[in-house]
Amino acid sequence: MFKKIRWKLSLWYAGLLAVILIILGVALYQALEHSLMAEAIRTTVTRAQQISALIDAPEIGDTVNGQGTFVDITDPDLVNKFSSEGIYIEISDQGGKVVNRSFFLEKHRLSDSRLLSILKSSAPGTLEIRGFTDLGRIVVYAMPLSRNGQNLGTVKVVRSLTLMDRALDRLQLLLWFLSGGGLILAIGVGAALAKAALSPIDHITRTARQIRAEGLNRRLNLSGPDDEVTRLANAFDEMLDRLETAFQRERQFTADVSHELRTPLTVIKGTAEVALRGKDPQECTEALTTVDGEVDRMTNIINALLTLARADAGQQQLETERVNLQDLVEDVLATFSSLAAEKGISLDAEAGAPAEVHGDRERLRQLLHNLVTNAIKYTQRGGTITISLGKDGDWAKITVVDTGIGIPENDLPHIFERFYRVDRARSRAKGGAGLGLSIVKWIAQAHGGRIDVESEVGKGSTFTVWLPCTD
Ligand SMILES: Nc1ncnc2c1ncn2[C@@H]1O[C@H](COP(=O)(O)OP(=O)(O)O)[C@@H](O)[C@H]1O
Ligand SMILES: [Mg+2]
Repeated sequence: MFKKIRWKLSLWYAGLLAVILIILGVALYQALEHSLMAEAIRTTVTRAQQISALIDAPEIGDTVNGQGTFVDITDPDLVNKFSSEGIYIEISDQGGKVVNRSFFLEKHRLSDSRLLSILKSSAPGTLEIRGFTDLGRIVVYAMPLSRNGQNLGTVKVVRSLTLMDRALDRLQLLLWFLSGGGLILAIGVGAALAKAALSPIDHITRTARQIRAEGLNRRLNLSGPDDEVTRLANAFDEMLDRLETAFQRERQFTADVSHELRTPLTVIKGTAEVALRGKDPQECTEALTTVDGEVDRMTNIINALLTLARADAGQQQLETERVNLQDLVEDVLATFSSLAAEKGISLDAEAGAPAEVHGDRERLRQLLHNLVTNAIKYTQRGGTITISLGKDGDWAKITVVDTGIGIPENDLPHIFERFYRVDRARSRAKGGAGLGLSIVKWIAQAHGGRIDVESEVGKGSTFTVWLPCTD
């Protein structure tokens, strides 16, 4: 149970709250005790002072012949007037003999012999606090009595702190009770709040458990305020979107590969069967030529797939060296000039700024090779293909422009995808499997560059490759 976050959270809060409550309770208790004690001491001392002042002054209204009548220290009314519940007064003469004592004391439990001995020992001008387990705490204050500068004896005031201590005890109990209740409430409410806040996480967990590769279409679709949990759920949904797309692409890819390889196999099988039945050596040669062509096609597809698979796995190493792009373009031009001429297409190179890159010569040749093959494939007789070299800041730029059939806008974002062809039949008829541009894109990226395409149907296409320059 304590492995649950919500319990951990609420226990932490409760712990914190307990510390705060304890500090507050102790501070409150001490402040109250302090002020009550101060008050008790003050009243004790004040009583003594009042008695002392009364003794020292003539009673008002009792003056005869300008001579005042003085209060008698042995007058029982004197002590009874100043005694009250919990307050006890004793007056002794100069010799220490008790001459007056609260009547209250006689029947009060404070008339304990221990108390009497404290009273006896307390010297004038002293304040003492004593505690007894049965009697509770008391304050004793002793003060000298004098009249006209002549010492008369001592007045001692005793104050019981039992009532105050009882109030403090009650406060302590109340504090414990309130803190305990508060803590239990805090744990409960905290756990409930945490549960409410964390319940979407349980939902996420359950959904995540239900998701299999075949059922990637499930989503959390958590709505609510934009908080941490909602953001987590949204991130989770976005991840599922990406995974679903990736899985779909993977599945599509497998289907494409199978289809692409099955077609030449069907042709080979059919041709072989016909050739086996026939007797004509001429027919046999034709059949073998067809088989040879289909095998070439399969080999090309498999080679391309192998290249891409290795690239995906990061195993395709580039053998880098300084490559002069001008030389490369001339090379490619030489390779394709006869093919272009045969198809009635003019293939030219436009001289630009000489550019050198640090790269894999064979891969870069393959890149240009694929682009020019496409240009020748998708350009009609009489069209033009121009390869130009340029520099833009730190980038070398190779552009292959054709005046061919162009690519519809809808297809443009996809042509670099594996097996993607605008016109499957047409591409296949021209020997393509839709992998050429995927390889071109990989080569450009592996060199730290990129490829852009612009195209307009019926007008032609422009492929631009950007590669980082060495210098
Ligand atoms: N220069 C171009 N002009 C028109 N369409 C092109 C051109 N280059 C590529 N494409 C389109 O992009 C698709 C993908 O090209 P690519 O990956 O080389 O495959 P493939 O050449 O095997 O068909 C082609 O099928 C074609 O529809
Ligand atoms: Mg191609």
